[in-house]
Amino acid sequence: MSLLDISPVIPVVILEDASRAVPLARALVAGGIDIIELTLRTSSALESIERIAEEVPEITVGAGTVVDPAQAGQAAAKGASFLVSPGATDPLLDAMTETGLPFLAGTATVSEMLALRERGIREAKVFPARASGGAPFLQAVHSPVPDMRFCPTGGIGSADAADYLALPNVGCVGGSWITPAAVVEVADWGEITRLASEALAVAGTIRA
Ligand code: 3PG
Repeated sequence: MSLLDISPVIPVVILEDASRAVPLARALVAGGIDIIELTLRTSSALESIERIAEEVPEITVGAGTVVDPAQAGQAAAKGASFLVSPGATDPLLDAMTETGLPFLAGTATVSEMLALRERGIREAKVFPARASGGAPFLQAVHSPVPDMRFCPTGGIGSADAADYLALPNVGCVGGSWITPAAVVEVADWGEITRLASEALAVAGTIRA
């Protein structure tokens, strides 16, 4: 199955404390979301990925913010099932391809999309989505590049997720609004479950 079709929303998580990883993942599953991206922006990220991969098999866990080629293999070794990068340099693409895992490389221009397409890649992240023109940008891209699909992230929330999901070239959207740091900090797992359900309900109005 394509990475873009697992869930209409991918929670993008910056987790400081690996001990929160498993209850956070379980709270998302309770809300109906079965995918989570742990960004490699904190020292606890790789351990968090490992814990979730071992203890919460119901969720597909991946590594985000892969910015150095070496991180691709490190995340794969910890049990990541997919990789996400905010950009798409050749060494990064080579390293992510080398893992054999599905990945989403970041694009923000048509030329970057075409560069991926020339490698045979048809699915990508669009980052930073809002700052790059938002849903109107993605809509405009669909006509000249109709055979690529995207996961926009960056600046998306419950108020505008549906605008993106309504587009034919958007498979899913990602973002941190489903797992706010302040809510994770106080371990309010009920609120995470509620936010996950709410995000799916928003998506459901479009993908019914
Ligand atoms: C990402 O890495 O995809 C973004 O940091 C998520 O952006 P957001 O925090 O604005 O949702």
